[in-house]
Amino acid sequence: MLIRRPADVLPSEITSPELYARRREFLREGGRLALAAAGLALPWADAGAAALANVQPNRMKIADAPTRLKDITTYNNYYEFGVEKGEPAENAHRLRTRPWTVSVEGLCNKPRRFGIEELMKLAPLEERLYRMRCVEGWSMVIPWVGYPLSALLRAVEPQGSAKFVEFTTLADAKVMPGLRYAVLDWPYTEGLRLDEALHPLTLLTMGLYGQELLPQNGAPVRLVVPWKYGFKGAKSIVRIRLTEQMPATAWNKAAAHEYGFYSNVNPNVPHPRWDQDSERRIGELTKRKTLLFNGYDEVASLYTGMDLRKNF
Ligand code: MTE
Repeated sequence: MLIRRPADVLPSEITSPELYARRREFLREGGRLALAAAGLALPWADAGAAALANVQPNRMKIADAPTRLKDITTYNNYYEFGVEKGEPAENAHRLRTRPWTVSVEGLCNKPRRFGIEELMKLAPLEERLYRMRCVEGWSMVIPWVGYPLSALLRAVEPQGSAKFVEFTTLADAKVMPGLRYAVLDWPYTEGLRLDEALHPLTLLTMGLYGQELLPQNGAPVRLVVPWKYGFKGAKSIVRIRLTEQMPATAWNKAAAHEYGFYSNVNPNVPHPRWDQDSERRIGELTKRKTLLFNGYDEVASLYTGMDLRKNF
């Protein structure tokens, strides 16, 4: 096991963002020992430490401060567990994340089913602090733990005809009360163009804040695409399929004029019912200006020559 499972983590061990941000400093300076001597329980100060030490340092440094772990884990969108922001944290504990498999199939030479433990070891886990922007006008900064999705896609060898990647997530009415309501066409599906899926910023994600994902955040494995609106980040993935045709996506099927396939964060393209040019960072009082591609300018070349008003 490379990172700790939620059940292993005591509430007393949950790190404050300030302490979290300084933990590498502490580790470097031997502060861990000093804190342990002072009786403070730290997430990395036990057997989990060895596993966490394998997580490579953040290669995507941004100046933004991380959002509080409490906000990240209690203010969620996961409609299978309810449409209110607090409902996933209340209901998602019913999700059983072991055993878990992800089938990778479609237009590839080596289609196969990966067990979650195997998936977690497929490539070195990295920690990346990413800005996330939700379509509803709020944003967070989350220290995700995962590796580029490209590592998994390369392992199955996409064929030349593959142009898109479809993600399908769990739909289990026994544990997901939200499936009773036809808000979306279940199971929740999402899609990326293959070059977007292979971009190094696109992360197959198993953890955050150095711990395994909690169910409400999409355990045991989800997608994170930081230059797109949050709904592209499909949670609790069970199937990944390489396709030639652009896959249908749950939100596009529900309201095509509101949610396009691309869904790049774009302050110049308002949502039909609200502007998209500013955002409220959870934990802050004043609004911020929303940046094109959520500030990740390195993805701009993926869309050269495309009209981003039409391809919203
Ligand atoms: N994945 C599934 N399976 N079901 C969902 O309802 N909601 C999406 C996305 N992934 C959703 C999902 C939306 S709208 C957002 S904003 C993000 O998850 C929220 O992720 P977070 O709760 O971890 O911040």
